[in-house]
Amino acid sequence: MKIIHLTDTHLVPPGRVLYGLDTAARLAAAINHIQQQHADADACIITGDLAHRGEEEAYVQLRELLQPLSMPVLPLIGNHDHRERFCAAFPQVPRDANGFVQWVRDCDDGRLVLLDTVMRGDEAGHPAAGYFGGGRVEWLRERLDEAGDRPVYLFMHHPPFGVRVRSFDDINLAAPDAIAFSEVLRGRSNIRHLFFGHIHRTIFGSWRGIPFSTLPATAHQSMLDFVALDDYFTHEPPAYGVVLLDDEQVTVHTENYLHRGPVYHPDGRCLSY
Ligand SMILES: [Fe+2]
Repeated sequence: MKIIHLTDTHLVPPGRVLYGLDTAARLAAAINHIQQQHADADACIITGDLAHRGEEEAYVQLRELLQPLSMPVLPLIGNHDHRERFCAAFPQVPRDANGFVQWVRDCDDGRLVLLDTVMRGDEAGHPAAGYFGGGRVEWLRERLDEAGDRPVYLFMHHPPFGVRVRSFDDINLAAPDAIAFSEVLRGRSNIRHLFFGHIHRTIFGSWRGIPFSTLPATAHQSMLDFVALDDYFTHEPPAYGVVLLDDEQVTVHTENYLHRGPVYHPDGRCLSY
């Protein structure tokens, strides 16, 4: 199975730029590249922060930009998104019984679990952080129980752990909800990988035995600074992920799809590409 992982598209209304970048053009280039290279993918999952300020026009543009993709598109929301405006533009995306944008997709290679970690209107805390209250923990427990021993792949916007960088670690899944989340996963040996967004950088590792990965945004990136308290944004290259799953292996490639430069044959010849 092949899944394309896109994250943090941060669209703004047409004609505007964000931190000096045309985020729509960057996403359009990614989609063009995906269609050239990976039209055979089984799904394209976008792990949130679809629109930078959650404007209706941005979601309408996102819907239009995604049209050329030949595979099913499964979008999640992030802290920059507006849940109701997103759902108005993407009415086909399932919601759970409590209205959260989370659902499962069962495939030959296992169960994909797509989660909503966005704050509700009645929750208090850091608005950029992740939350998982309001029945979401119970929903996840039921979906994991249903999966039995089948492989499970988790997709979410916020990581349920810190990444040891101060400016990022204030805005991961808020502590009480992160504890509840980890308790639901405890003792389950079939969670094969956790994919998230939010950080706007490549990070991979494992957490309590669960491998994880996240990728650069298609929009701006976060500067890796282990000292700064604030997050700073850069024009480092965007990327998307190519995730290959089978019974024995999970492989995550990153594609720096905007890279242009010379290509060399091993014999030293410089080729146009
Ligand atoms: Fe983001």
